[in-house]
Amino acid sequence: MGDIERTEFDLGGTTGGAGAPARSDSVSALPLSGEAEQELSLRPRSLGEFIGQPKVRSQLELVLGGARTRGVVPDHVLLAGPPGLGKTTMAMIIAQELGTSLRMTSGPALERAGDLAAMLSNLMEGDVLFVDEIHRMARPAEEMLYMAMEDFRIDVIVGKGPGATSIPIEIPPFTLVGATTRAGMLTGPLRDRFGFTAQMEFYSTEDLTRVVTRTAGILGVELRQDAATEIASRSRGTPRIANRLLRRVRDYADVQGDGTITLEVARAALLVFDVDELGLDRLDRAVLDALVRGHGGGPVGVNTLAVAVGEEAGTVEEVCEPYLVRAGMISRTPRGRTATPAAWRHLGLQPPG
Ligand SMILES: Nc1ncnc2c1ncn2[C@@H]1O[C@H](COP(=O)(O)OP(=O)(O)O)[C@@H](O)[C@H]1O
Ligand SMILES: [Mg+2]
Repeated sequence: MGDIERTEFDLGGTTGGAGAPARSDSVSALPLSGEAEQELSLRPRSLGEFIGQPKVRSQLELVLGGARTRGVVPDHVLLAGPPGLGKTTMAMIIAQELGTSLRMTSGPALERAGDLAAMLSNLMEGDVLFVDEIHRMARPAEEMLYMAMEDFRIDVIVGKGPGATSIPIEIPPFTLVGATTRAGMLTGPLRDRFGFTAQMEFYSTEDLTRVVTRTAGILGVELRQDAATEIASRSRGTPRIANRLLRRVRDYADVQGDGTITLEVARAALLVFDVDELGLDRLDRAVLDALVRGHGGGPVGVNTLAVAVGEEAGTVEEVCEPYLVRAGMISRTPRGRTATPAAWRHLGLQPPG
């Protein structure tokens, strides 16, 4: 595999000097239109601009509005839901709506309590501290966070052994916004300290149609209405996937057509990229296949499924399963995952019994 890649580099190099550098030069010569950067510009910037999630939006309007009226910092907010539904976007919007700055970090980055202490002691009054993947925070940091959330104060331990002393530090009032794909993995004490939990739901096809239409407008792509609906209906209820599929369909339209995305172009492109009518991709179908063909429809544990498809159990559990459950393909039972008759039929098989 590596050898094949190197050969390709060398071939590229014959036109302009040494192999690998020539290739990386040509890459960096492209205009900076990286997808990560695009993702940033695609994010809605206000609650009004945020599409869908009507319940979360109206709840947040109340939480933020109430605090604004009373002239205090809003309660801490937990954003829960599968990846790509807009948790990070919403955290940015909260800071924007409050007219304060957003400090970002993540659970895995807060390995030691000191990492969090540094973050907290640099906050300004009213700031929003965003902790992504908050369920992955190390225990000592989490315990420090309890105190900061409740009393706007932390105790920093200086020194070791009998000589250790604890120095109390006051933290200016701030709003913690936590995001998690696994609300169930949060400890009770941490969950209790959030004043409000926003449960983000999968988006309807209508809302996702608005998402891709908006994105096409920002990217300057001509996207027909029926094509927008087609892309939306295959996006697994997820804006991030909708935007990604739109970019792949645009690639196809640019290379195979005149750049216009018609229904026909969208369907042909999605076929090329292995996205089926339900929006299931290769991994989703592999999971279904392992469950149905490999284990007679279950019940089977998530770890077994993960091994069968060569993925981490966490990925299967957080990325594939929620949508497969929502699409009525699998159900979670105490003994494991089982395939529904719809799953058998989706794979072109006759459900048993
Ligand atoms: N309600 C929405 N309206 C429009 N675009 C959205 C919306 N929610 C998410 N997006 C888009 O989807 C992408 C992923 O959102 P993000 O906030 O990073 O999700 P999460 O943090 O939940 O994984 C963002 O780039 C944003 O452009
Ligand atoms: Mg995020």
